[in-house]
Amino acid sequence: MKIRTDEIASVIKREIEQFSSQLEVSEVGRVVEVGDGIARIYGLSKAMAGELLEFQTAEGSVMGQVFNLELDTVGAVIYGDYLAVKEGDLVKGTGRLMEVPVGEGMLGRVVNPLGEPLDDKGPTNATEFRKVDIIAPGIAERQPVTQPLQTGIKAVDSMIPIGRGQRELIIGDRKTGKTAVALDTIINQKQFWGTPDAVVCIYVAVGQKESTVAATVETLRKNGAMDYTIIVNAGSSDPAPMQYVAPYSGTAMGEYFMWSGKTAGAKLSGGAPMPKHVLCIYDDLSKQAVAYRQLSLLLKRPPGREAYPGDVFYLHSRLLERATKLSDDNGGGSMTSLPIIETQEGDVSAYIPTNVISITDGQIYLEPELFFAGVRPAINVGISVSRVGGNAQIKPMKQIAGSLRLDLAAYRELEAFAQLGTELDKATQRQLDRGARMVELLKQPQYVPMHVLDQVIAIFAASKGLMDDIPVSAVREFEAGLAAYLSGVGKAARDALAEKKDIKAVEKQLLDACHAFKSTFKVK
Ligand SMILES: Nc1ncnc2c1ncn2[C@@H]1O[C@H](COP(=O)(O)OP(=O)(O)OP(=O)(O)O)[C@@H](O)[C@H]1O
Ligand SMILES: [Mg+2]
Repeated sequence: MKIRTDEIASVIKREIEQFSSQLEVSEVGRVVEVGDGIARIYGLSKAMAGELLEFQTAEGSVMGQVFNLELDTVGAVIYGDYLAVKEGDLVKGTGRLMEVPVGEGMLGRVVNPLGEPLDDKGPTNATEFRKVDIIAPGIAERQPVTQPLQTGIKAVDSMIPIGRGQRELIIGDRKTGKTAVALDTIINQKQFWGTPDAVVCIYVAVGQKESTVAATVETLRKNGAMDYTIIVNAGSSDPAPMQYVAPYSGTAMGEYFMWSGKTAGAKLSGGAPMPKHVLCIYDDLSKQAVAYRQLSLLLKRPPGREAYPGDVFYLHSRLLERATKLSDDNGGGSMTSLPIIETQEGDVSAYIPTNVISITDGQIYLEPELFFAGVRPAINVGISVSRVGGNAQIKPMKQIAGSLRLDLAAYRELEAFAQLGTELDKATQRQLDRGARMVELLKQPQYVPMHVLDQVIAIFAASKGLMDDIPVSAVREFEAGLAAYLSGVGKAARDALAEKKDIKAVEKQLLDACHAFKSTFKVK
């Protein structure tokens, strides 16, 4: 038999090639220091910033993430059971960035920031994953905000309108009804569920008591809002890294739906169109910033103003920048963000509040004085603004909101003056009366969001002076009666408004209907 050397050489070469391809190279390091949810690791010289790590502990594997790249160690945060991680444990770099499960299966679920279920409904069975921390879409991928996100709250929809894709801050002291505004907005999205305008809501709870979150879930369930809501919870007893990452996880879950608009004809398993609009609520970012400060200080990042690390602005801006209205080429989906910030004694000029005010497109400012005076929602309409929402308001609302703002501004100006008890001329007195009724009209109890057409009708009637001779205490009764009348006997006028979407076109009909109702109205 003849031996062909080149053949043998080629076989050996192939073997060698295959040998090297079967070899799994993984970089490992060892924990040199651990505590409070953070670890310092020696080795891992090729670790990437933000890389997912696997701690191999005696009690199984625990995930972590690279945070600081230092000269000869790596500082990492630990997600999950950090008490299991011990000094000397082996740490493996995964070469991946952090991901969470996303998709339809997450709807109606309460999960932790890793996407693991916290409710008793079993596994989420997600088949898709998305990166938690990504770069926000650039401007070429976006388009201006043009579609309203109805909150169902009269004071907001009329004067501080929010558009789909906008970022609107809810700011105020503790117990001023911040969460209430957010929850009412979620509940109001129920009317759109199952339609092409459907909005998936994501409520990210950071640093709240478990009982508070449980009550929130229960409220949403009772109001039928859990069908289209995902709750991401990192409670006050969870380690700081979990609280820090929760808003990003929630956002990633929302982005799945936002980008689904690109797949034409996508459907939910029930047959309804795949929702491409998302509402993200971060309740609240002050606590998230505190968690971030805690782990940054533990990792020895230099403290800056108020001891926050220098990049705390970047922390919030890269999160809120992900709220966007995508261009039509990208499917036209949207993500609206409602971050919540808690102030101390109304101090909006503290570090975190000013940061987030400057990042967002406006703020809803809630005041304890108003809250305790019974003006609820306690929105200070004088200093609350929405910088883009006006473009997204429906036309009839836009037509009447202007006069509402003016009436309220005039009222605020005259109110202090009137307290002096001086005799007032007729015009001034009329303005005061009008203002008092407008303030009364904008009060709204919790969990009863109002359809935008009913809001328009109520404000229209008030601005036409129909309520001027109704006692202030009966204004809300009048409003409720009017809404009922226009859904019943006077339905034609409401339908005309819904169809024409223009106050001017139906003004006479609407006014007649309002007067017709007023003639039947008796103050109890
Ligand atoms: N529109 C409203 N009408 C009546 N009560 C309200 C209204 N909004 C909020 N409340 C009540 O005010 C209280 C505080 O509301 P909420 O919990 O929303 O405030 P918060 O600012 O989120 O508080 P925290 O600082 O604890 O997060 C709650 O008991 C709530 O039921
Ligand atoms: Mg709250």
